Amino acid sequence: MPASVLVGTQWGDEGKGKVTDLISGGFDVVCRYAGGANAGHTVIANDHELALHQVPSGVMYEGTYPVIGNGCIVDPELLLSEIDTLSEQGISCDALKVSGNAHIVMPYHKDLDGAHEKRLGKNLIGTTKRGVGPTYMDKMNRTGLRVQDMLDEKIFREKLEAALAYTNPILEKVYELPTYSAAQICETYLPYAERLCPYIVESSLFLNEQLEAGKNILLEGAQATMLDIDHGTYPFVTSSNCTAGGAVTGSGIGPTQIGRVLGVAKSYLTRVGSGPFPTELFDEVGDLIGRTGHEVGVTTGRARRCGWYDGVIVNYAARVNGLTDLAITKLDVLGCLDKIKVCVAYEADGRRYTTVPEHQSVFYHSKPVYETLPGWQCDISGVRDFYRLPREAKDYIDFLEQLAGVRVSIITVGPDREQTIDRYWN
Ligand code: GDP
Ligand code: IMO
Ligand code: MG
Repeated sequence: MPASVLVGTQWGDEGKGKVTDLISGGFDVVCRYAGGANAGHTVIANDHELALHQVPSGVMYEGTYPVIGNGCIVDPELLLSEIDTLSEQGISCDALKVSGNAHIVMPYHKDLDGAHEKRLGKNLIGTTKRGVGPTYMDKMNRTGLRVQDMLDEKIFREKLEAALAYTNPILEKVYELPTYSAAQICETYLPYAERLCPYIVESSLFLNEQLEAGKNILLEGAQATMLDIDHGTYPFVTSSNCTAGGAVTGSGIGPTQIGRVLGVAKSYLTRVGSGPFPTELFDEVGDLIGRTGHEVGVTTGRARRCGWYDGVIVNYAARVNGLTDLAITKLDVLGCLDKIKVCVAYEADGRRYTTVPEHQSVFYHSKPVYETLPGWQCDISGVRDFYRLPREAKDYIDFLEQLAGVRVSIITVGPDREQTIDRYWN
């Protein structure tokens, strides 16, 4: 099949950037299909370490088109600065394509994101403050501006006036924030428009033409299954469909074109922001995992909450995404432990759950049921062949594979591109 999807199976930061970069060489096009600058994807290759927010992680390969699909939202200021940073590092974005149908993040979206979080007080979501929720709200409300609106100054101004007529009273009366004039925003945004112009395309047409020409496309997910607006731990989620279904609507490629769906799962679990996390650790083991795995957010610099691998949620991710393959990342990090726990089920209200409970309040007070496996307590970062892993590490992978019901095709044992075991992907 010409198109494959890569999707996060947990609460984000599974190592999607590394895995995308790793397999991108086998694709002609890599297209991001959801989210915006809330994503932080780390790619380390050829002595470059990149933290990508909006540009797809396939950008490192000459001859691969990076595409920002229609399901994404675009912050023009941040995108242009990302393009500049990449070019300073010798990585060209000349081949980048940006969908004309992607929505634009406006300054007021960021103001509203911050102000809404403040209002929520202790119930805050812990967003990345990149304006994501308000931008998608405007998209659904049909009051948003799209990238293509930047191609025509008159249309941009008119749509902006209409958007401000709706948004300014909210800024002023609901949040007691300063309002904006169209002139003020045009002054900063029109120069961005000029620079973005060469990248703007009808991305669904571009992608389908590529497919017709026999090219392979990778649809790169951001965020993750448990942050998906429909399938995640609502309301502690992001505002887009990060799951594989979003890859179809967010790219304009039909589902019949998609063959493989690769889920990325960290060999333990992390989460940034608020919300339930049944296997979260509050002890020195959690601290040790966080320190060893350098678990600090790429976008916000926040310390990530750490916990044991949760087999229930990855099995759930296999279901809602239709996973065909799994990549298990950061296996090297677990070398610091003598015993490793894995959550195989939850208990709540005297019942045992082997899938994510339907009711959020049950999920909230679910207690994990663990199985304990022996650790391997050595450095595996140099291993490139599954059969050379210590027996305990192979058993661990086999166990995760059984719980997910999906074969583990890729294992990563370090942040570099080469620190990888390819079992069944290629
Ligand atoms: P993403 O958002 O899913 O792309 O993941 P992030 O880039 O936010 O976080 C993953 C972090 O783990 C990054 O710092 C990567 O460089 C790092 N990383 C990825 N794979 C491995 C691995 O196998 N081992 C180790 N130790 N680090 C890894
Ligand atoms: P990558 O692609 C981890 C989380 C935020 C917050 C919630 C909503 O790097 O895996 P938002 O700003 O989207 O409205 O925040 O979602 N979140 C992420 N957590 N990795 C991400 O992206 C995330 N993007 C958003 O922390 O809890
Ligand atoms: Mg990340």
